[in-house]
Amino acid sequence: MSAVRPETDVDLFGPEFVTDPFPQLARLRQQAAAVYSTKWDFYVLTRYEEIKAVAADWQTFSSGEGVALTPEINNVIAGTILSTDPPDHTVLREVLGDQLAPRGLGKIRAQIAEYAERIVAENVARGEFDAVREISRVFPINVVGDLVGLPLEGREKLQPGADATFAGMGPFGDYLLSHLEEMGAYHEWLEGMGDREKLVPGGWGEKIMDAVDAGKITPLQGTRLITAYLTAGMDTTVNAISALFRLFCERPEIWAALKADPSLAAPIFEETMRWHSPVVGFWRVATREATIGGVTIPAGSKVMLNWGAANHDPAKYDNPDDFQLDRNPLDHVAFGYGPHGCAGQGLARMEVVTLLQALAAQVDSIEPAGDVVVSMNPIVRGLKSVPIRVTAAS
Ligand code: HEM
Repeated sequence: MSAVRPETDVDLFGPEFVTDPFPQLARLRQQAAAVYSTKWDFYVLTRYEEIKAVAADWQTFSSGEGVALTPEINNVIAGTILSTDPPDHTVLREVLGDQLAPRGLGKIRAQIAEYAERIVAENVARGEFDAVREISRVFPINVVGDLVGLPLEGREKLQPGADATFAGMGPFGDYLLSHLEEMGAYHEWLEGMGDREKLVPGGWGEKIMDAVDAGKITPLQGTRLITAYLTAGMDTTVNAISALFRLFCERPEIWAALKADPSLAAPIFEETMRWHSPVVGFWRVATREATIGGVTIPAGSKVMLNWGAANHDPAKYDNPDDFQLDRNPLDHVAFGYGPHGCAGQGLARMEVVTLLQALAAQVDSIEPAGDVVVSMNPIVRGLKSVPIRVTAAS
């Protein structure tokens, strides 16, 4: 057990870190299994095995005490699916359990594939476009919007609102402060969705309202569950898709491999998730004194699970900063791990794989048509713009 607390004064949300966190994360990983941030007052975890162990041990590392950085936001999200521990958490998780299980997802596969084919066809006709604006920020928004049963009117608030809400899990910094308006408009709009009249019948929203009527959850929990699924299901998938477009521009041999063998869509997606890891990380609070890799964590401390750092741990993956086509890392933790492991990962996989297959079928070449612009959101690793030029399949 180390007598001296391992510390860092690196700004874990500064522009340099957000733009390229992996060199700094590698230094933190070498320093210790848990390193205390003197600027932000939490321990950051960067090693794969320790992150998995902490994520699984919800009794010692609680989500119910708050998964966001600031007490203000933790007050607001208390009692939501993200910010509860079993058994309350289990009740919330069960509400859409059938819909998100493989059988439930099987029923919507054709609908999602048809939409993927349509959005690719529309953009192939354009020839040159910003893949983030025209595909990444449109496809998952409408897939999840339709599944929940949201009206079409107002959907333009979803992506900017979800992006700002994710940022809200981190520090009250420049990014969040400059996106408060989007966040406010999104939550105001969603408040109204706890009303059956506004939701298209047969969707997840109605299923959640059924759970309210059956007394399984309260009306407030119902509205918040809709918000949670929308928020979690948008910016994450949006940025996974954007990362793939950038990858195809920068590594044409990966696009060529997908084109030659569309069954590579799933392994390419898994390696992108490991390599890019859209969700930077959330926090847990130690309910008692604990030890992580020899570092003492006092009771009440906050620990951050940095999923991307775990996915770049050389003790787990050889040459972790390199995207390897044949790696197929099914055990990556980009979807989290333990009781809070992503509830929508099957859907995310289905969305992205069907989109990649539609691209492979309809597009011959993808090449850059301008500079990539990186998002400075401190909690979602993202891209604001990936301009591309495509040619239609001959
Ligand atoms: C590539 C896309 C996605 C990524 C990278 C991702 C990542 C994550 C991560 C890391 C967590 C764990 C949070 C924690 O441990 O505190 C999580 C939770 C969650 N995700 Fe996803 N997610 C994605 C897509 C989706 C989709 C499509 C949906 C649903 C429509 C969704 C719904 C949820 C929900 C509801 C939770 C909370 C689960 C809980 O707290 O029990 N996610 N996601």
